[in-house]
Amino acid sequence: MRDAHKIMEKIISLAKQRGFIFQSSEIYGGLKSAYDYGPLGVELKRNIMNEWWRTMVYEREDVTGLDASIIMHPKVWEASGHLAGFSDPLVDCLISKERFRADKAPTPNIGDEIHITCNDKGQAKNYQLAIEKRFNIVLQRNGKNLEGLKVIDTNKIGFFETDQEKESKTFDFPGYVSPTFNSPFLSKEKQFNLMFRSQIGAVDALGDIANFVNDNKHLDKDEMKQGIEKIVKDSAVYLRPETAQAMFVQFLNCQQTMSMKIPFGIAQMGKSFRNEITTEHYIFRSCEFEQMEMEFFVEPGTQKKWLDYWIDKRLEWWKSFSNYPDNFIYRAHEKDELAHYADACYDIEYKYPWGYDELEGVASRTDYDLKKHAEHSGTKLSYFDQQKEDPETGKMGWRYTPYVIEPAAGATRGLLVYLIDAYHEETVQDAKGNDTTRVVMKLHPKLAPFKVAVLPLIKKDGLPEIARDLVNSFMKAGINARYDEQHAIGKRYRRHDEVGTPYCLTIDGETKADNCVTIRDRDTMKQERVSMNEAVKIIIDKLNQSTTD
Ligand code: GAP
Repeated sequence: MRDAHKIMEKIISLAKQRGFIFQSSEIYGGLKSAYDYGPLGVELKRNIMNEWWRTMVYEREDVTGLDASIIMHPKVWEASGHLAGFSDPLVDCLISKERFRADKAPTPNIGDEIHITCNDKGQAKNYQLAIEKRFNIVLQRNGKNLEGLKVIDTNKIGFFETDQEKESKTFDFPGYVSPTFNSPFLSKEKQFNLMFRSQIGAVDALGDIANFVNDNKHLDKDEMKQGIEKIVKDSAVYLRPETAQAMFVQFLNCQQTMSMKIPFGIAQMGKSFRNEITTEHYIFRSCEFEQMEMEFFVEPGTQKKWLDYWIDKRLEWWKSFSNYPDNFIYRAHEKDELAHYADACYDIEYKYPWGYDELEGVASRTDYDLKKHAEHSGTKLSYFDQQKEDPETGKMGWRYTPYVIEPAAGATRGLLVYLIDAYHEETVQDAKGNDTTRVVMKLHPKLAPFKVAVLPLIKKDGLPEIARDLVNSFMKAGINARYDEQHAIGKRYRRHDEVGTPYCLTIDGETKADNCVTIRDRDTMKQERVSMNEAVKIIIDKLNQSTTD
């Protein structure tokens, strides 16, 4: 049933048709990797984020919330290292112009043949000519492949004429090829900053730049670039690439106003922005996305215990809304994967249709961030524990810089995970007894955009009025209910199956006489007739029951 290859296409199509996710600016041709969350997508996203907030903040005395500015003082990003280090090594293919991340590219082994794989024979011919012109070799064309190259050393590629055992020419090899075409003809690596830059202030830097260029025509290219950079930098601000830094910058304010005692956490959720070069897998990696992050401040030396604690908690949370909890795992980072500030890190991974990949990172960030912000701002970011003995002096009272455990989750990535988890196709029989496919989104009731749909069987005889009254009763009880009278009842059931509505209530001709309605369960399709006066309570009980199962 769960065909891995087709499932993404089906989910993308359903998400668009049913109002979960639209391409951004679609009528203008769309904007690459930008998405809008439609009428049902916004509900699903909020439900996920509200559940996270409930678990992380409302249900805990040791975590407090924060909603910080997206644009922060540029020095924040200098201190955090994002301005200098938040960059990807990028490479261009000199033939196809494909741009890609060097650290994610395929790495053939010594002895491997390299076949440049074109889209079609015509392109193969064009690339063959382009390579001949630029590198003075004629690769052999085999359909849409270009052949004759082989890795002969860790840093060398050889060109072999047809049937020749010895290479006639060699080329430098960086150890990887381009991901789409398999091309080893590549530019040098360039660093590319992932932060979106903007300007703040009333004066437009363009005017200053124009004056500078006009007054300094004698400068060479690099000097001109440096001069312009300086002007831009003076008024530059950045869209935050993560929500985390605000929690470090506001550590003292949150700790003092709420009298928090260590261990304690500061939680924040909201938009983050990264100028991602490789956007991939629909909303999995996009330039604008939402995060749910918490910085948990702990006593130095206790970080391992708290790291283990938070990995368990977070994994359990993701599983609790899933039909397939076994699809969530965690994986320890290898030493060479660790960020410079972390002494340990785990990824919570989900089994996406393309394989296991990251959903949330749980990092042990040491005291790196608080120390950096203290150093750059000149403000002491430390904690004084009166009850503890200072390990160095042996005296009561210990001032230290807390260590930090950070569970950092993607909310929009989580939404994709739950769409994949929910998507089901089932064979059922239609009214004539023929097999037909039912698509049902088995979203957890807490996440489902609508909890209940109220459907009058026909649009007359007072049934719509009864249905609307019932919808109002649900609304008053805080249950998101939907009135729906369009199309035949079977079609309406299917529509609500496809958006994950757990229960449909039908008002029919008998309702007026017996004051009863029919409840249809989304997953089992079983129907039961209940008193209308009890309907709201019964649904509330069912929703509560489903969340404690
Ligand atoms: N403060 C640490 C931090 O931001 P991260 O691993 O870069 O760590 C945390 O991001 C989570 O945010 C990721 O596990 C992922 O779920 C989500 N995320 C990161 N970049 C994303 C992107 N470009 N699009 C969608 N989600 C993203």
